[in-house]
Amino acid sequence: MKILLYIIMFLSASCLAAEAGGESITLLYPPDNTIMEFGLIGISMHVPEGSAELIKAEVDDKEIVNIVPDEEYECFSVPLAPGMNRITITAIKGGTRVYDVTLNVFRRSDLVSKYMKGPAGFRKNFFHMKDREQCAKCHILEPKEFDRKPISPTSFTAEAFDTQTVLAATSTCYSCHYRIASYPYVHGPAAVWSCLSCHDDKSEPKYSVKKPDTEVCFGCHIEQKNEWAGRKYTHGPVTLGKCAICHSPHASEYAFNLYKPTWDLCVTCHAEKANGRHVLGDSFSTEGHPTRNRPDPVRTGKELTCASCHQPHASNSPHLWAFDVQSMFELCQRCHNK
Ligand code: HEC
Ligand code: HEC
Ligand code: HEC
Ligand code: HEC
Ligand code: HEC
Ligand code: HEC
Ligand code: HEC
Ligand code: HEC
Repeated sequence: MKILLYIIMFLSASCLAAEAGGESITLLYPPDNTIMEFGLIGISMHVPEGSAELIKAEVDDKEIVNIVPDEEYECFSVPLAPGMNRITITAIKGGTRVYDVTLNVFRRSDLVSKYMKGPAGFRKNFFHMKDREQCAKCHILEPKEFDRKPISPTSFTAEAFDTQTVLAATSTCYSCHYRIASYPYVHGPAAVWSCLSCHDDKSEPKYSVKKPDTEVCFGCHIEQKNEWAGRKYTHGPVTLGKCAICHSPHASEYAFNLYKPTWDLCVTCHAEKANGRHVLGDSFSTEGHPTRNRPDPVRTGKELTCASCHQPHASNSPHLWAFDVQSMFELCQRCHNK
C-alpha cells in the first residue's frame, strides 16, 4: 500500500516536472560531492528565458556571484578554499526564490594532512569525460591545431568576451579556464596557454597529467633534473617526485608559483622549526635564530627564510644546507664572517 502511494507520488511529481517543460532551471555542472585540486570551480546553468531575474552564488555564506541572467546559459566560477566548500546557488524571480541548490565541493590538498583525501562519497567528476553538447553551442570543446602552438591571450579580456574573437584567436581552453592564469605569478607554459604540453588530450581520463610530477616537470626543466640528480641529498617530497605539492603548475600569488610564501610553505610540514631554535642546537637557546623578517645577508634584496640556509630540492650538504657547505660552522660563516 505504502509502495503504491510512493509510485503515485512519483508519477505526479514527474508530470509536474514535465509540465514545467523546458522552463525549469537546471544545473549542468558540477554534481554534488565533487573533489577538486585547485582553487577554482566552473559552474554552468541552463536558465531559460524569463525563468529568473537574479542568480546568486555563495560559498560558505559569502556572496561571490550576483548576476542578472541575460543568456539561456549562465557560466561563472567560484573560488575554493582547501577542504570543504559549501556552494549555494539561488535564483530569484518576482522577489521569491524559484531555484535553490547546495553543492559540497571538496578541495583536496597534499599540504594539509586532514585534507589529503576526500570524505566518503566524494569523487572527481571529470568534466571532459562526457559529451558536453550544450556547451558546444558557445564554446569549442576539442583542441584545435592552435592549442599546440598557442599565442598570448593577453589582448583578450573577459569584459570584451566575443565568441568570434575567442574562436579565431585564442586557446580553446581559454573561454572556460581563463581565470586559471589570472594571478601575479604565472608559470611559463600556462602563460602562453600551452595547456597541452602537460595535459594529454588522448589520455583516459581526458587531459590527465603523467604522475609523478617529475615525469612532466623534468620534460622541460632538464637543467634542474641533471643538477639535482648529481647531488648527494634530496628533499623528501622531491624524492617522491611531488613537485606540484609546493609549486602550482598554473599560477599563484607567490614567486616561483609557490602555493604559499617560502617560510609558510616550509613550516606547513616542519611546524616545529618555525621558532628557529634548531639552528642554535635547541638546548642552549630559548630565543632561537631568526628565520624570517630580516634581510638575507647573502641574497641581497631578499628576506631571510628557511631557503636562506636550506635547499628546497637537493644539496650536497647534510640537512640540505645551502652553499654546499660541509659543516655547521662553515654554514654560520657564510653570513657571520665579519
Ligand atoms: C549561450 C552561450 C554559452 C553556453 C551554451 C555555455 N557558455 Fe560558458 N560561457 C559563455 C560566455 C559568454 C562566457 C564568458 C562570460 C564571462 O566570463 O563573463 C562563458 C564562460 C564560461 C566559463 C568561465 C566562467 C568564469 O567566470 O570563470 C565556464 C567555466 C563555462 N563558460 C563553462 C560552460 C559549460 C560547462 C557549459 C556547458 C554546460 C557552457 N559554459 C555553456 C557562454 C556560454
Ligand atoms: C566548455 C568549457 C570548457 C572548455 C572549452 C575547456 N574546459 Fe576544461 N573544464 C571545464 C569545466 C567546467 C571543468 C570542471 C571544473 C573546473 O575546473 O572548473 C573542466 C575541467 C578540466 C580539467 C580537469 C579534469 C576534468 O575533466 O574535469 C582539465 C585538466 C581541463 N579542464 C583542461 C582543459 C583543457 C586543456 C582545455 C582546452 C584544450 C579545456 N579544458 C577546455 C570546462 C571547459
Ligand atoms: C606544467 C604542467 C601543466 C600545464 C602547462 C597546465 N597544467 Fe593544468 N594541471 C597540471 C597538473 C599537474 C594538474 C593536477 C592534476 C592531478 O593532480 O590530477 C593540473 C590540473 C588542472 C585542472 C584541474 C583542476 C582541479 O582543481 O582539479 C584544470 C582545470 C587544468 N589543469 C587546466 C589547465 C589549463 C586550462 C591549462 C592551460 C592554461 C593548464 N592546465 C596547463 C599541470 C599543468
Ligand atoms: C612545457 C615546458 C614546461 C613544463 C612541462 C614545466 N615547466 Fe616550469 N617553466 C617553463 C618555462 C618556459 C618557465 C619560465 C622560465 C623562465 O622564466 O626562466 C618555467 C618556470 C618555472 C619555475 C620558475 C618560476 C620563476 O618564477 O622563476 C618553476 C618553479 C617551474 N617552472 C616549475 C615547474 C614545475 C613544478 C613543473 C611540473 C609541474 C614544470 N615547471 C613544468 C616550462 C615548463
Ligand atoms: C618543498 C617544496 C618544493 C618542492 C617539493 C619543489 N620545489 Fe621547486 N622551489 C621551491 C622553492 C621554495 C623555490 C624557491 C627557492 C628560492 O627562494 O630560491 C623553488 C624554486 C624552483 C625553481 C626555480 C629556481 C631554480 O632552482 O631553478 C624551479 C625551476 C623549481 N623550483 C622546480 C621544481 C621541480 C621541477 C620540482 C620537482 C622535482 C620542485 N621544484 C619541487 C620549493 C619546492
Ligand atoms: C609537503 C611537506 C614538506 C614541505 C612543504 C617541506 N618539507 Fe622538508 N621535508 C619533508 C619530508 C617528508 C622530509 C623527509 C623527512 C625525513 O626523512 O625524516 C623533509 C626533510 C627536510 C629536511 C631534512 C633533511 C635532512 O636530511 O636532514 C630539511 C632541512 C627540510 N625538509 C627543509 C625544508 C624547507 C627549507 C622547506 C621549505 C622550502 C621544506 N622542507 C618544505 C616534507 C616537506
Ligand atoms: C640560519 C640558518 C637556518 C635557517 C634560517 C633555518 N635552518 Fe633549518 N637547519 C639549520 C641548521 C644549522 C640545521 C642543523 C641543526 C642540527 O644539526 O642540530 C638545520 C636543520 C633543519 C632540519 C633537519 C633537522 C632534523 O630534525 O632532522 C629541518 C627539517 C630544518 N632545518 C627545517 C628548517 C625550516 C622549516 C626552516 C624555516 C622555518 C629552517 N630550517 C630555517 C639552519 C637553518
Ligand atoms: C643565511 C644567513 C645566515 C646564516 C647561514 C646564519 N645566520 Fe645567524 N643570523 C642571520 C641574521 C640575518 C641574523 C639577524 C641579525 C639581525 O637581527 O641584525 C642572525 C642572527 C644570529 C644570532 C643572534 C645575534 C644577533 O646578532 O642578534 C646568532 C647567535 C646567530 N645568528 C648565530 C648563527 C649560527 C650559530 C649560525 C650557524 C648555525 C648562523 N647564525 C647562520 C643570518 C644567518
